[in-house]
Amino acid sequence: MRRPIIGGNWKMNRGSPESAREMLQELIPLVKKVKKVDIVIAPPFTALQEASVVKVTNIKLGAQNMYFEEKGAYTGEISPIFLKALGIDYVILGHSERRNIFGESDELINKKIKKALEMGLIPIVCIGEHLEERKAGKTEIIIEKQINGTFADLNKKEIMKIVIAYEPIWAIGTGETATPEQAAEVHQFIRSLLNDKYDEKVAQSVRIQYGGSVKPHNALELFQKADIDGGLVGGASLEAESFAEIIKAVEKTI
Ligand code: PGA
Repeated sequence: MRRPIIGGNWKMNRGSPESAREMLQELIPLVKKVKKVDIVIAPPFTALQEASVVKVTNIKLGAQNMYFEEKGAYTGEISPIFLKALGIDYVILGHSERRNIFGESDELINKKIKKALEMGLIPIVCIGEHLEERKAGKTEIIIEKQINGTFADLNKKEIMKIVIAYEPIWAIGTGETATPEQAAEVHQFIRSLLNDKYDEKVAQSVRIQYGGSVKPHNALELFQKADIDGGLVGGASLEAESFAEIIKAVEKTI
């Protein structure tokens, strides 16, 4: 059985220590009884230190990005060593905003994944198609290309440590969620690719989150789908109450 995982991607919000503290003071008591779900929050780098209060709770800390080198002349970049020093467990890699706004390629993301794994960080790797690609019937081609590129040369042990987030780009921040059927169909397709590339054990072990306008009102029907192992949540993770409701929705499906 795969353990569900809910991630809160704060993006470029709540980056001051005060704002992060305010959110977490509310969130921690709301979810403290949740035992069977992995809960991860990914605040901006500037709030990670403050957010490390969660270390003594059932919430884990994630970063939103990292570079694949450990140190040196890489102005503006963050080393995985710095993340480890703060006690961080997860790192989101290849988010569509990184790909589309900052031009990150599958090749770059692949290097970051390998480095994260080497350092003992768990990568949450995002993949997903644009609206035009879906309309043109190219969703599967795009997903396969992203999987082949971002996971190139990863062995079985490595791929099994990764969390995949299927995030159709047209559903991110738009309020337009994929229907549970649309999401489940792609999740199944990802598992079939993992089966072809690796084996049945890998296909059944890797956790696949859905992301894109997950809200308290649609979370349960998405998470009820057998192949959806939780969600990566943007907007609705910024307020403790809505994030806690989403976490409790996944708990109901166990
Ligand atoms: P959203 O973001 O929930 O605001 O659509 C999801 C994401 O980008 O991970």
